Amino acid sequence: MKCSKRFVELDKALHDRNSFDCDSVDLNIFLQRHALRHMKVGVSKTMVLAATEQLANKKYPLCSFYTIAPSSIQRETLPKNLSRKLPHYPVPVFLIAQLAVNKKVQGQQLGKITLIKSLEFLWHVNKQMHAYAVVVDCLNESVENFYKKYGFDHLYKDDGKSRMFLPMKTVEQLFEMPDHDQGGMAG
Ligand SMILES: CC(C)(COP(=O)(O)OP(=O)(O)OC[C@H]1O[C@@H](n2cnc3c(N)ncnc32)[C@H](O)[C@@H]1OP(=O)(O)O)[C@@H](O)C(=O)NCCC(=O)NCCS
Repeated sequence: MKCSKRFVELDKALHDRNSFDCDSVDLNIFLQRHALRHMKVGVSKTMVLAATEQLANKKYPLCSFYTIAPSSIQRETLPKNLSRKLPHYPVPVFLIAQLAVNKKVQGQQLGKITLIKSLEFLWHVNKQMHAYAVVVDCLNESVENFYKKYGFDHLYKDDGKSRMFLPMKTVEQLFEMPDHDQGGMAG
């Protein structure tokens, strides 16, 4: 499976959602049944990296995708040294609601690239409308370790899921380096 070079918005006329399998039933179902509807009603945006070769149905299979949405967290859930500088109302954040790589191309750094591309997208959004941090909900410890690797810190545990965050200031530092060297994330 050869992947294209650019993430684009999910398009049902172009992208074959049914063939996507990342080994997580919930994430597969989200992409197959909910992602487009959620975009249509305006609650999230799903960006996909398509493969370069069409299937018999003339659509392109998907190598990876991410879904982002605006959200908010309670100020008190942040570490004290950060929360005490913030106003006493819910703190706006960007949520990486979903992120997954097709199992055919897992283990080839595409998870890392997909995460960096989602952060870069949010960095651009943040220039127009600020949010304090990027948050992500981890379904299990393994996923938690993946995000930890890229600087996300634990926020709190809710309903068995661990919520992690990365301050927007850190994202800014990552993409605003003069020579666009992505430091640790470039690997
Ligand atoms: C988690 C997931 C996105 C990782 O994608 P991937 O393409 O296999 O990962 P990469 O090849 O980009 O790995 C990049 C680095 O992260 C590490 N890594 C990958 N998955 C990891 C995990 N589950 N836990 C800890 N580290 C992990 C890799 O070892 C690699 O480290 P290295 O650069 O030191 O070699 C992918 O396995 C996936 O889609 N899983 C199912 C869906 C899911 O759980 N999504 C995340 C929750 S929203």
